[in-house]
Amino acid sequence: MRLFFALWPDDAVRAQLARWSRELHAVCGGRPTRDENLHLTLAFLGSVEEARAAEVERAASEVAPRVVTLVLDRPGYWKHNRIAWAGASVVPPELESVVSELRSALARSHIGFDPKGFVSHVTLLRDAREPKAMPALDPIPWKVDGFALVQSVTLPRGSRYEIRRSWKG
Ligand code: 2AM
Repeated sequence: MRLFFALWPDDAVRAQLARWSRELHAVCGGRPTRDENLHLTLAFLGSVEEARAAEVERAASEVAPRVVTLVLDRPGYWKHNRIAWAGASVVPPELESVVSELRSALARSHIGFDPKGFVSHVTLLRDAREPKAMPALDPIPWKVDGFALVQSVTLPRGSRYEIRRSWKG
């Protein structure tokens, strides 16, 4: 089973992200993330034995969830992996704290995760073309009140993400 920690949008934020995705798709093409899968990854664990999942949850319980507003105001594009994404020009320090506390708690429990630095982004399109210019998009205020442990289930049509447990501030 593949696991990761993420911020999971509520319906209103999801709808606004889906709108960004459609507007970006008009200039970049590519494969949109399915609306129900839209999320912002905090730590990617990858494959975890079912028997260790309880330890992952226990480690996450050491982290205090924060209530904070994250404003997504910056569409972006990465050439190296052809991803178009939604990002924030300012990442609130409370969110950085959640990420570093979560990663420290995982490390203390010897639970492996992708050690690449945290880059706050929501992947909207894969295999996208580089746009000549980014469209102007309305900022999305996202009231974050916790984080979730998400399980990725592989289906013939692609992955589906299921929230396994969430922690609220
Ligand atoms: P991405 O959207 O930039 O690809 C589930 O795969 C989530 O975990 C995605 O949001 C993905 O980011 C993120 N992720 C982070 N590190 C990853 C890795 N090493 N392999 C796969 N997904 C990773």
